[in-house]
Amino acid sequence: KKSTKKRVRVYMDGCFDLMHYGHANALRQAKALGDELVVGVVSDEEIISNKGPPVLSMQERLALVSGLKWVDEVIPNAPYEITEEFMNRLFKEHKIDYIIHGDDPCLLPDGTDAYALAKKVGRYKQIKRTEGVSSTDIVGRILSSIEDVKADKACSESSHTGESDNLNNTQSSKSLANGGHVSHFLPTSRRIVQFSNGKVWPGPNSRVVYIDGAFDLFHAGHVEILKSARQLGDFLLVGIYADQTVSELRGGHFPLMNLHERSLSVLACRYVDEVIIGAPWEVTNDMGKSDPYVVPKNMGIFQTLESPKDTTTTSIARRIIANHEIY
Ligand code: CTP
Repeated sequence: KKSTKKRVRVYMDGCFDLMHYGHANALRQAKALGDELVVGVVSDEEIISNKGPPVLSMQERLALVSGLKWVDEVIPNAPYEITEEFMNRLFKEHKIDYIIHGDDPCLLPDGTDAYALAKKVGRYKQIKRTEGVSSTDIVGRILSSIEDVKADKACSESSHTGESDNLNNTQSSKSLANGGHVSHFLPTSRRIVQFSNGKVWPGPNSRVVYIDGAFDLFHAGHVEILKSARQLGDFLLVGIYADQTVSELRGGHFPLMNLHERSLSVLACRYVDEVIIGAPWEVTNDMGKSDPYVVPKNMGIFQTLESPKDTTTTSIARRIIANHEIY
């Protein structure tokens, strides 16, 4: 029975640059504090003056946030600080009941609390920040993987004579282990359940779509392809390659995000119904073939989707490196 009780509308803002499962978990908790979640995505200009230039554009950050299953509405170009004017706009125009932020201090350049006003009027609520992941940490992983590539190159160049083969082997097996900068994050079953949509496997007459990939550094291009894939059927199953598979396909410095982190990011996407954590590169019927899609092709159930945008994990990594070289 639909109740006549007023639906509680909550607001959370953020930069959501290089969106990760920590952001997703924050929005999930925010949504649980109300019925409808409105998310303010801070403008490029405001991010520049408060913490330095973002890696992703407003459009990309909006696409990422809108793709999350807990987000009902987005407000583009939100301010970094909850000013009196903006707070009144939230209350009147957007009918917001509570303003929410993580339990980490969010300070303006002058040292004052960006949420002081909302706290003063008793319209502030807090969620728990997710440990062990941040945009800064992800940038760090990208930069140190570049350092590793440079070191490997220098090493193999200086060892052109003699048993260089041997040396290269040790180098690459070291990078496969990922130099120590990869996260050791492991999810609990509870976290996986919290991120799942609980949709049950549909009946035999429905169309189940399977798409696979590395989904490293989850970006706006991923959201778009998952949306297109979901539109082909009734249920979207996503296969996420194991870390070893991604390393073999892309090189020893990949993936940047481990299997569990990549799985949570994909699972947080509203178009995804289920994930296979550690899918094989080949879609097999238990036979080895060099084209990973031979079996589904022969069965007449293979389809390619045009890859959206020029956004790739590598192109985002390049932006970060370019940014880094400026500063
Ligand atoms: N957040 C969180 N856990 C994290 C990172 C962010 O709960 N590991 C929350 C923040 O508390 C905030 C929201 O996500 O309420 C948006 O965060 P954002 O403004 O994008 O930036 P940061 O807090 O600086 O996070 P990061 O360093 O990862 O960019």
